[in-house]
Amino acid sequence: MRRCVCPGSFDPVTYGHLDVVERASGLYDEVVVAVLFNVSKKGLFDVDERMEILRDVTEHLGNVRIQSFEGLLVDFASQNDIPVVIRGLRAVTDFDYELSMAQMNHRLTGLETFFVATNPEYSYLSSSLVKEVASHGGDVSGLVPKVVLERLRERFGSESSAGA
Ligand code: PNS
Repeated sequence: MRRCVCPGSFDPVTYGHLDVVERASGLYDEVVVAVLFNVSKKGLFDVDERMEILRDVTEHLGNVRIQSFEGLLVDFASQNDIPVVIRGLRAVTDFDYELSMAQMNHRLTGLETFFVATNPEYSYLSSSLVKEVASHGGDVSGLVPKVVLERLRERFGSESSAGA
């Protein structure tokens, strides 16, 4: 079985992430979306909630599994028999960080990284920006799935994340 992993923080998942997962889903037999559990970094949504949202928004894809992981991605990949990481590249600003992670992961266990060029429609999009805009009542509809909009409203109040 050809399997890949799409790792990330997904706090929260955006349409940029979803685009990468959907494309990976068309290329591999199974896609494992791996949500990083980072004890030292408290997110807006806890890991269980991020996973619940991810399950919801990938339901239409029959070959996507949502899991969480702690520690090194290479260990998670080895334990789950996954040889390839798929990461989206939004712009050159992503490149240095992504390249060094890919090189380190390859050095550690031979884990490969394939990059997907993000849909230009989402090249400026990040979870951090979504949270910042939503926290100040800005409209992030069209950038995150509806279920995320609803959860942002719950967090920041009915004025936030407007639209839809
Ligand atoms: O969504 P993000 O925050 O850009 O995802 C980053 C992620 C989770 C892919 C990266 O931080 C990661 O793999 N963390 C796990 C710890 C690890 O393996 N670190 C060494 C990377 S070379």
